[in-house]
Parts: sequence; C-alpha cells; structure tokens
Amino acid sequence: MLEQGGRHHGRSLLPAPEDVAGLRERSRDLVAIDLDTDQLALLELLLSGALRPLSGYLDERDSRSVRAHARLASGALWPISANLHVPAALLSSLEVGSQVSLRHPEGMVLAILTVADVVSCDCADASPSVHVGGRLDGLELPPRPSLDWPSIRQPRVEEASGSRPLLGYQTRRTLHRADIEFLADEMERLNADLLLQVLVSHDQQAWNDDVRRAKCCRLALDHLPPGRATMTMVPDLRIADPALDAVAAGIILRNSGCTHAVVDSPALQASNPRESMREIGIEPVDDARGRRAGEPIGDGELREFLVSDREIPAEFTYPEVLAELKRWFRPRRDQGFTVFFTGLSGAGKSTIASVLMARLLSVDERPVTLLDGDIVRALLSSGLGFSRADRDLNIARIAYVAAEVTRNGGIAICAPIAPYRRARDDARRSIRRYGGFVEVHVSTSLEVAEQRDRKGLYAKARRGQLKGLTGIDDPYEAPEHPEIVIDGAQGSPEEAAARIIRDLESRGYLELHGRTQPGTG
Ligand code: ADX
Repeated sequence: MLEQGGRHHGRSLLPAPEDVAGLRERSRDLVAIDLDTDQLALLELLLSGALRPLSGYLDERDSRSVRAHARLASGALWPISANLHVPAALLSSLEVGSQVSLRHPEGMVLAILTVADVVSCDCADASPSVHVGGRLDGLELPPRPSLDWPSIRQPRVEEASGSRPLLGYQTRRTLHRADIEFLADEMERLNADLLLQVLVSHDQQAWNDDVRRAKCCRLALDHLPPGRATMTMVPDLRIADPALDAVAAGIILRNSGCTHAVVDSPALQASNPRESMREIGIEPVDDARGRRAGEPIGDGELREFLVSDREIPAEFTYPEVLAELKRWFRPRRDQGFTVFFTGLSGAGKSTIASVLMARLLSVDERPVTLLDGDIVRALLSSGLGFSRADRDLNIARIAYVAAEVTRNGGIAICAPIAPYRRARDDARRSIRRYGGFVEVHVSTSLEVAEQRDRKGLYAKARRGQLKGLTGIDDPYEAPEHPEIVIDGAQGSPEEAAARIIRDLESRGYLELHGRTQPGTG
C-alpha cells in the first residue's frame, strides 16, 4: 500500500485528534487481530511514517516483488517484508474491502486495517497463516518506554529543521569513546548534526535492557558538541541480513530527515549496500571505528566484565556511562538469584529448601522467597491439575515469580517436581536474564521416595486410586546438566544445604566474608 496522502495527520498514519473518537467507535464492531511483539514494531514504524511511502501492509503484488528482488512493484528499492501474517483460521472474516482492528495484546485497538487482499502464505511456518495487505488507519501507537532526548514529540518523525546535513545512526548497543570520537569526526567532516536512533523492542522482557542502553547512549552523546545531537528510541525490525538491515535503517533514517547514514562494518563486509543507500536517497558513511584489543565491546561482554567485578579500562568508555552501567550490571554478590529444585515427590526437596532458606536468611541480607510445590499449588496455581499442560503452566508461573524476585535483587527458592526438561529450561532462560540460576536435582530414587511416602500418594497410586503420579505412571525427565545433584537418601538436609551454599559462593553470588556456616563441619 503506497501513501495516498491527505487522509492522515501530517506524515504519520495517525488521525487528527478530532477523528480519534469516531475511529474508536468504528473499531468496536470489527473482528480483532492481536499482534505479537514483532508485529507491534512493524505497526509502530508504519503508523509513525518511518516506512513511507508505505501506508499499510504490502499487497500481493508488492509482496511478491519484494520477495523476488527486494523492490516494490513500482521498482522502488524495498528491503522490508512489511506483511501482516494472521492465522488462516481468520480467513473467513477477511473479505477484500472489509475492515479489521489490530490490537495490542493488552486489548487496546491500535489501528484499523482495510483489507486489500489476502494471500495464503508459502512460508514454512508451523501453523498455516495468510498475508493480509491493506491500508492502515492508526488510532494510537503501541506503548513502550521512550527516552527521547532532547524530548522530541513522538510519534511524529520530525524533519530536520536545520539547514545542516543530518547524520543518522541506528544502534543496538551502548556507545563508548571510540563510537563518539568516530561520530564527532564525521559530524565535523560533513558539518552535520546527529540523529541517534536506539533500537528497542516491544517485548516487555527487554525493556530493562532497552532503557539501560538508551540512558547510557544519552550520557555518551553529552560528549558531542552541545546542541548538535538528538536521540530517539525506535522499534527494531530485527532484520537478520546485515545488508538488508542497513538499507532498512537507511529508509527509516531518511524518513526521519537524515541526509547521511552510518553503515556498520558487518553490513559493509557482508555485501556493499552503498549503492542501495544512495538509491533510496541517503548518503552512506562507512563505519571506521577502531577497536582496541582486549576490551569489552558489546553489551553482553560488558555485562560479563562488570558482574564478575573486572575493571573496564578508563580509555574505553566515559566515567558517567560506566557508573550507569554499574548500576544495571551489579557484581554477582549484589544480584538476585534463584535456586531451583527438581525431583520426585518425597525426594526431600521441601526439607532441603527450608533448611537452605533458613541458612540464607542468616548469612545474607537479601530477602528470600520460598516457592514450594504444595504451597504454590494451594494459591498461585490453585485450580491446576497434573496434566502436562497444567504442570507446564505451574512451572511457568513459578518461573515468572522467581524471575521477578531475582530481577529485584532477591533470592528465590523453588521446589516443585518440575518433571519436564523444557519447562525447566524455559525457567532457566527467563531467570538468567536477571541473575543467577542454580538447578538442584534431588535425585532420590523412586524406591526411597516410595518407602517414605509421607503423603501416602505412592500407596494410593499403587492401589489404583491416583492416576498420573510422577515416577509411577507419569514421566520424570531427569536434568542433563544441573548445577548440583543431591541424593536425598545420602547425608542430611543440612549437608545438602551447605553444599548449595558453597556452590553459590564459588559462583560469586554469595560472599560470606569468612562467616562460619553452621553444618559445614
Ligand atoms: S509439578 O509437576 O507441577 O511440578 P508440583 O511440585 O507443583 O508438581 O506438585 C507436586 C505435589 O502435588 C506433590 O508433592 C504431591 O503432594 C501432589 N500431587 C498430587 N497429585 C500428583 C500427581 N499426580 N503427580 C505428582 N504430584 C502430585
């Protein structure tokens, strides 16, 4: 869909303020499609006018042309597959000419799409889906953090007002001295101002990282000549191909008023996007940043340096940026962590978990949250049974709470059976973003657990009065690489807890300052 002009407010696809109520009223009777995080990023860019000349999703002709040779049917270079995939199940409500509303997962209507065509999609997706092309009328932009500086009025992408050239740069990482020196040189060479676009996500899990990066970039930009740099946060289309990504960035920057765009070295190495950049109307500026050997570069590497308490060389970044980074990437002894027990019912998880909790409270300042299997099931997961789906949901809920506790610097101890590897690995992944994760397999044999049978469940199962008991007629997938394995039939719960504490200490999450641990003797 190409821009037809006149219908929308300014250069965006958002309505004039007086039209919002009418559109909202109209949206109420429409079939609604809920967008995922990548679809929200694309929608925001379309609505804000960053993908002009598009005024909606690609129709079939444009889609085919873009897939075949990265050009719109008009011949204009277009590296972005601006398609809306919807589940094929919705096909019956998608007549050409009809309207559907596009919703944020939280329920707000963001835009109305007038269907121009529906194409079944040959993409190798697991679930069948269709492409819908058509014109968009925006209602509002999807919410996300913004840290624009100096404060630019979003959503409008303002044209550069000055007479100077405007150098654009999109970044997915924090900028440091070498980046700023490079940008300053280019600004001087071109006599240009700078527009920095920090790429961000619509995935709430990533917002911490996004805000950190934007704050650090803003501090770094203070080292450019005053009044010459502007920063905005812009959704990331996450285009995997570096050359296509560079051209897409060029389009967004051009539509934001830039005359020049920095092309990162991966794109220069992969192919040569310079000609394409010129064709879309923006002058490429080659990345010529020097890297100093042995220094952390990416945010991931920086994080590793800081959490393990290693020094960042002063010539690498600015003191204010380093101070900000240190606020976000605390050394492990100040971070939160989760100890995640798994094992059969009756293996001894709860007992070890409560001893561990008592120990941790006595040797450490951080608050401790215990998420024990039976207690969780009484409240957080009440209503869930023991089907695979219910068990997975139970673990996902526990992991969610543990991740929040960890993110906020606390200690979470979880003690469910957690019989499925996938659910445990998902828990690990989500918690690792925020702090430590130590999986403890309490590997007590079924024979021992059954012999104990404190709750009488195994006896019931053997009598056929209980179906689907883990270990009897429901599977337990033992962890392949747990941090710690404890056989509940050997040694006391105190010894097990002491082992876990020693492990946490060796990983840097606990610092006992020579404090004597009871029970280690
Ligand atoms: S999990 O599989 O979802 O991780 P969870 O740890 O929450 O299980 O709950 C396990 C507890 O529920 C057991 O300790 C036991 O007391 C009780 N329970 C009742 N029925 C079952 C069953 N079919 N399988 C396992 N545990 C059960």
